Amino acid sequence: MAWGRQAYDCDRKQNHLMPKKTQSTGKRFNTGEEPEDNRNNDLQELFLDELADVYSAEQQLIKALPKVAKNADSDELREAVEEHLEQTKEHAKRLEEVARGLDQSIKRKTCAAMKGLVEEANEVMREQKGSSALDAAIIAGAQKIEHYEIASYGTLIAWANQLGYSEQVEELQQTLEEEKETDEKLTSLAEEMANQRAQAE
Ligand SMILES: [Fe+2]
Repeated sequence: MAWGRQAYDCDRKQNHLMPKKTQSTGKRFNTGEEPEDNRNNDLQELFLDELADVYSAEQQLIKALPKVAKNADSDELREAVEEHLEQTKEHAKRLEEVARGLDQSIKRKTCAAMKGLVEEANEVMREQKGSSALDAAIIAGAQKIEHYEIASYGTLIAWANQLGYSEQVEELQQTLEEEKETDEKLTSLAEEMANQRAQAE
Protein backbone atom coordinates (compact mmCIF):
# COMPACT_ATOMS: atom_id res chain seq x y z
CA MET A 1 0.00 0.00 0.00
CA ALA A 2 2.84 2.36 0.89
CA TRP A 3 4.29 1.77 -2.55
CA GLY A 4 0.98 2.55 -4.20
CA ARG A 5 0.71 5.84 -2.33
CA GLN A 6 4.28 6.76 -3.13
CA ALA A 7 3.74 6.12 -6.80
CA TYR A 8 0.55 8.16 -6.70
CA ASP A 9 2.19 11.15 -4.99
CA CYS A 10 5.08 11.06 -7.41
CA ASP A 11 2.62 10.99 -10.26
CA ARG A 12 0.79 13.99 -8.85
CA LYS A 13 3.95 16.10 -8.40
CA GLN A 14 4.87 15.37 -11.96
CA ASN A 15 1.43 16.43 -13.10
CA HIS A 16 1.98 19.92 -11.73
CA LEU A 17 5.14 20.29 -13.73
CA MET A 18 3.71 18.99 -16.94
CA PRO A 19 1.85 21.06 -19.50
CA LYS A 20 -1.89 20.48 -19.22
CA LYS A 21 -2.24 18.65 -22.52
CA THR A 22 0.27 15.99 -21.56
CA GLN A 23 -1.35 15.37 -18.19
CA SER A 24 -2.51 11.87 -18.86
CA THR A 25 -1.52 9.05 -16.61
CA GLY A 26 -2.14 5.34 -16.49
CA LYS A 27 -3.92 5.64 -13.15
CA ARG A 28 -7.13 6.81 -14.82
CA PHE A 29 -7.58 3.29 -16.11
CA ASN A 30 -7.20 1.80 -12.64
CA THR A 31 -9.79 3.83 -10.76
CA GLY A 32 -11.90 0.78 -9.95
CA GLU A 33 -8.99 -0.82 -8.15
CA GLU A 34 -7.77 2.26 -6.32
CA PRO A 35 -8.27 2.57 -2.56
CA GLU A 36 -11.14 4.88 -1.67
CA ASP A 37 -8.91 7.61 -0.18
CA ASN A 38 -6.97 7.82 -3.44
CA ARG A 39 -10.20 8.22 -5.35
CA ASN A 40 -11.24 10.97 -2.92
CA ASN A 41 -7.86 12.62 -3.46
CA ASP A 42 -8.42 12.58 -7.20
CA LEU A 43 -11.87 14.11 -6.83
CA GLN A 44 -10.59 16.66 -4.32
CA GLU A 45 -7.86 17.67 -6.76
CA LEU A 46 -10.45 18.04 -9.50
CA PHE A 47 -12.69 20.05 -7.17
CA LEU A 48 -9.83 22.44 -6.34
CA ASP A 49 -8.99 22.84 -10.02
CA GLU A 50 -12.60 23.70 -10.78
CA LEU A 51 -12.69 26.08 -7.81
CA ALA A 52 -9.65 27.88 -9.26
CA ASP A 53 -11.30 27.95 -12.67
CA VAL A 54 -14.54 29.47 -11.35
CA TYR A 55 -12.57 31.94 -9.20
CA SER A 56 -10.77 33.11 -12.32
CA ALA A 57 -14.11 33.36 -14.13
CA GLU A 58 -15.53 35.59 -11.37
CA GLN A 59 -12.39 37.77 -11.34
CA GLN A 60 -12.59 38.23 -15.10
CA LEU A 61 -16.24 39.26 -14.75
CA ILE A 62 -15.42 41.81 -12.06
CA LYS A 63 -13.13 43.46 -14.60
CA ALA A 64 -15.50 43.10 -17.57
CA LEU A 65 -18.89 44.11 -16.12
CA PRO A 66 -18.28 47.86 -15.56
CA LYS A 67 -17.72 48.28 -19.31
CA VAL A 68 -20.88 46.30 -20.07
CA ALA A 69 -22.90 48.49 -17.69
CA LYS A 70 -21.47 51.62 -19.32
CA ASN A 71 -22.49 50.41 -22.78
CA ALA A 72 -26.05 49.42 -21.90
CA ASP A 73 -28.71 51.64 -23.47
CA SER A 74 -31.52 51.10 -21.01
CA ASP A 75 -31.36 52.11 -17.37
CA GLU A 76 -32.91 48.79 -16.34
CA LEU A 77 -30.19 46.75 -18.02
CA ARG A 78 -27.45 48.99 -16.67
CA GLU A 79 -28.82 48.63 -13.13
CA ALA A 80 -29.14 44.85 -13.53
CA VAL A 81 -25.51 44.61 -14.66
CA GLU A 82 -24.33 46.88 -11.85
CA GLU A 83 -26.21 44.80 -9.32
CA HIS A 84 -24.68 41.66 -10.70
CA LEU A 85 -21.23 43.22 -10.47
CA GLU A 86 -21.73 43.64 -6.70
CA GLN A 87 -22.96 40.04 -6.45
CA THR A 88 -19.98 38.85 -8.46
CA LYS A 89 -17.59 40.46 -5.96
CA GLU A 90 -19.40 38.51 -3.23
CA HIS A 91 -19.16 35.31 -5.28
CA ALA A 92 -15.40 35.68 -5.51
CA LYS A 93 -15.17 36.25 -1.75
CA ARG A 94 -17.37 33.22 -1.14
CA LEU A 95 -15.02 31.06 -3.20
CA GLU A 96 -12.14 32.28 -1.05
CA GLU A 97 -14.18 31.23 2.02
CA VAL A 98 -14.83 27.82 0.48
CA ALA A 99 -11.09 27.29 0.02
CA ARG A 100 -10.30 28.64 3.49
CA GLY A 101 -12.85 26.29 5.06
CA LEU A 102 -10.97 23.38 3.49
CA ASP A 103 -7.56 24.73 4.59
CA GLN A 104 -6.65 25.30 0.97
CA SER A 105 -5.64 28.28 -1.09
CA ILE A 106 -6.99 28.94 -4.56
CA LYS A 107 -4.50 28.07 -7.28
CA ARG A 108 -3.69 30.62 -9.95
CA LYS A 109 -5.44 29.69 -13.13
CA THR A 110 -7.05 31.46 -16.07
CA CYS A 111 -10.49 30.28 -17.05
CA ALA A 112 -10.15 30.03 -20.83
CA ALA A 113 -13.90 29.64 -21.33
CA MET A 114 -14.71 32.90 -19.53
CA LYS A 115 -11.93 34.65 -21.42
CA GLY A 116 -13.58 33.59 -24.68
CA LEU A 117 -17.07 34.50 -23.52
CA VAL A 118 -15.93 37.97 -22.41
CA GLU A 119 -14.01 38.53 -25.64
CA GLU A 120 -17.01 37.57 -27.70
CA ALA A 121 -19.34 39.79 -25.64
CA ASN A 122 -16.96 42.73 -26.10
CA GLU A 123 -16.74 42.10 -29.82
CA VAL A 124 -20.53 41.97 -30.22
CA MET A 125 -20.88 45.17 -28.15
CA ARG A 126 -18.41 46.90 -30.48
CA GLU A 127 -20.27 45.67 -33.55
CA GLN A 128 -23.66 46.71 -32.21
CA LYS A 129 -22.65 50.14 -30.96
CA GLY A 130 -25.32 52.64 -32.00
CA SER A 131 -27.74 49.88 -32.98
CA SER A 132 -31.17 49.58 -31.39
CA ALA A 133 -30.33 45.91 -30.85
CA LEU A 134 -27.33 46.70 -28.60
CA ASP A 135 -29.11 45.77 -25.35
CA ALA A 136 -30.40 42.54 -26.89
CA ALA A 137 -26.80 41.69 -27.80
CA ILE A 138 -25.57 42.52 -24.29
CA ILE A 139 -28.25 40.30 -22.75
CA ALA A 140 -27.34 37.43 -25.07
CA GLY A 141 -23.68 37.65 -24.07
CA ALA A 142 -24.53 37.98 -20.38
CA GLN A 143 -26.80 34.94 -20.48
CA LYS A 144 -24.10 32.81 -22.10
CA ILE A 145 -21.86 33.84 -19.23
CA GLU A 146 -24.54 33.06 -16.63
CA HIS A 147 -25.19 29.64 -18.13
CA TYR A 148 -21.50 28.83 -17.99
CA GLU A 149 -21.40 29.85 -14.33
CA ILE A 150 -24.57 27.90 -13.52
CA ALA A 151 -23.01 24.77 -15.04
CA SER A 152 -19.75 25.35 -13.14
CA TYR A 153 -21.41 25.90 -9.76
CA GLY A 154 -23.67 22.90 -10.34
CA THR A 155 -20.58 20.78 -10.89
CA LEU A 156 -18.79 22.19 -7.84
CA ILE A 157 -21.84 21.48 -5.67
CA ALA A 158 -22.14 17.89 -6.93
CA TRP A 159 -18.46 17.22 -6.20
CA ALA A 160 -18.58 18.99 -2.81
CA ASN A 161 -21.53 16.74 -1.93
CA GLN A 162 -19.60 13.64 -2.92
CA LEU A 163 -16.64 14.80 -0.84
CA GLY A 164 -18.83 15.50 2.20
CA TYR A 165 -18.13 19.27 2.24
CA SER A 166 -21.56 20.22 3.58
CA GLU A 167 -20.69 23.79 4.66
CA GLN A 168 -19.15 24.48 1.29
CA VAL A 169 -22.20 23.05 -0.48
CA GLU A 170 -24.34 25.66 1.26
CA GLU A 171 -22.06 28.53 0.28
CA LEU A 172 -21.86 27.39 -3.33
CA GLN A 173 -25.62 26.84 -3.43
CA GLN A 174 -26.20 30.45 -2.40
CA THR A 175 -24.13 31.67 -5.34
CA LEU A 176 -25.83 29.26 -7.72
CA GLU A 177 -29.23 30.66 -6.70
CA GLU A 178 -28.03 34.20 -7.39
CA GLU A 179 -26.68 33.21 -10.80
CA LYS A 180 -30.04 31.63 -11.65
CA GLU A 181 -31.91 34.74 -10.48
CA THR A 182 -29.69 36.92 -12.66
CA ASP A 183 -30.35 34.67 -15.63
CA GLU A 184 -34.11 34.91 -15.04
CA LYS A 185 -33.92 38.68 -14.69
CA LEU A 186 -32.08 38.89 -18.01
CA THR A 187 -34.76 36.76 -19.66
CA SER A 188 -37.47 39.10 -18.31
CA LEU A 189 -35.58 42.15 -19.56
CA ALA A 190 -35.19 40.60 -23.00
CA GLU A 191 -38.91 39.80 -23.12
CA GLU A 192 -39.84 43.34 -22.05
CA MET A 193 -37.62 44.78 -24.74
CA ALA A 194 -39.09 42.48 -27.37
CA ASN A 195 -42.60 43.57 -26.34
CA GLN A 196 -41.70 47.26 -26.47
CA ARG A 197 -40.19 46.75 -29.90
CA ALA A 198 -43.33 44.96 -31.12
CA GLN A 199 -45.55 47.76 -29.78
CA ALA A 200 -43.45 50.42 -31.46
CA GLU A 201 -43.84 48.77 -34.85
FE1 LIG B 1 -20.94 34.80 -10.13
